[in-house]
Amino acid sequence: MPTYTEISPRALNPRLLELEGISRVTIEAHYRLYQGYVGKRNEILAQLEATDRSVANQVHSELRALKVELSFAIGAIKNHEVYFAHLGGEGGDPAGAIDALIRRDFGSVDAWRDDLRATGIAGRGWAWTAYDWDERRLFNYIGDAQNTYPVWNATPLVALDVHEHAYFLDFQTDRAAYIDAFFANLDWGVVNGWIATYGISG
Ligand SMILES: [Fe+2]
Repeated sequence: MPTYTEISPRALNPRLLELEGISRVTIEAHYRLYQGYVGKRNEILAQLEATDRSVANQVHSELRALKVELSFAIGAIKNHEVYFAHLGGEGGDPAGAIDALIRRDFGSVDAWRDDLRATGIAGRGWAWTAYDWDERRLFNYIGDAQNTYPVWNATPLVALDVHEHAYFLDFQTDRAAYIDAFFANLDWGVVNGWIATYGISG
């Protein structure tokens, strides 16, 4: 009797196939990567069922290898579910609750956008705008891999994937142009929905 539950990939919203600047081919390939992360998460958890706990070792052991890579797979699933969910919008300046938070914590929308763009240029995998529940404010975080540099008790509200798989086909090495396209396709309504769902009140 397994102690885990297999999960399935979330369906790809068809509006993702009609983005400005980010091609259908890129999104379809990106979605297949996401499906792969889900498959590996299920596979790793199944293997963990049969792993010998008595030989766990910090230098090398099956338990260590599986749990390290499980964090990569689960991180990748969560990261991409945020990414896919908030694309397909009209971009532009934020409105509503996210607009107020950005202005309060970054000074202006332009300052937030400039910082997230620079964070995305400096990162090797991800840049996030997240709300830290302890400091009760937004910050733009960097992430080099699917499972590196997250902080506890923070909720991502904007997930900027800067892995080359997200843009190379459309922009070659021009990551800055891709980031501009990312901004142009953001759905601020989705972000404001998360703020309401999570109860972020400033
Ligand atoms: Fe990705």
